[in-house]
Amino acid sequence: MKLNSKTIREYCSDPVMIRVYDSIDSTNNEAKRRSDNGICLYATTHQTAGRGRRGHSFYSPKDTGLYMTLSLPLSAPSASVQKITCAAAVAVCEAVSTLSDSRPAIKWVNDIYVDGKKAAGILTELVCDDGNRPRAVIVGIGMNLCTRQFPEEFAANAGNFGDIEVNALCGTITARLIKYFHCLNDNSVIEKYKALNFCLGRAVRYTQNDIPHTAKAVDIDADGGLVVEENGVITTLNSGEISIVPQ
Ligand code: BTN
Repeated sequence: MKLNSKTIREYCSDPVMIRVYDSIDSTNNEAKRRSDNGICLYATTHQTAGRGRRGHSFYSPKDTGLYMTLSLPLSAPSASVQKITCAAAVAVCEAVSTLSDSRPAIKWVNDIYVDGKKAAGILTELVCDDGNRPRAVIVGIGMNLCTRQFPEEFAANAGNFGDIEVNALCGTITARLIKYFHCLNDNSVIEKYKALNFCLGRAVRYTQNDIPHTAKAVDIDADGGLVVEENGVITTLNSGEISIVPQ
């Protein structure tokens, strides 16, 4: 079925403005341009300039995936962007597991894997007011559903979830993410995130201040930071990218 707001609403009864596009440059860009006051969902099945973290592009070909952004107004004191990313990852995994036979797992902090390959990514960004105070957080989620052919730079590590009905998926993720957003102080979101994470107990590589490290991932802290241990020294990572050392 074609993506449409009426069917999305059947899966999400929260008061959310829903904007659906046949094609758009990037739903995160659109959320920034419109800068809504209330909760707003932007969704499409085609982006012409999808963005990933650290300036990467996100491959978003027509009608083989779901690309959505949920814009959530922030009131001070705001939760950490990292924790909201964790809540989104949990919402994605739970929605996929509810609607299909796929059993996704999370690679800290924002990647969702299935069968050892990345099938979804999350890009969380803050929108600030004129005084540079955060006024909203926008959570962009890109999911490969039936995408099978990928550009060379993504091909080795890219997977897909298979054919999941886009309206059900979009509405279910939205409902769950709104629910978790409203109870971010409750540690249950992080407990769910930990349970779905496949990094814990594994050796990981990362670079900090230009120094490469190999450490063991031992925990996720209350803010979604990755706690690692290297030669008896404990460090918490709050940004950057890790890779899993093959066993
Ligand atoms: C990543 O894997 O680095 C994050 C990818 C996030 C992609 C989504 S697709 C919907 C939203 N719009 C964008 O331009 N990016 C996010």
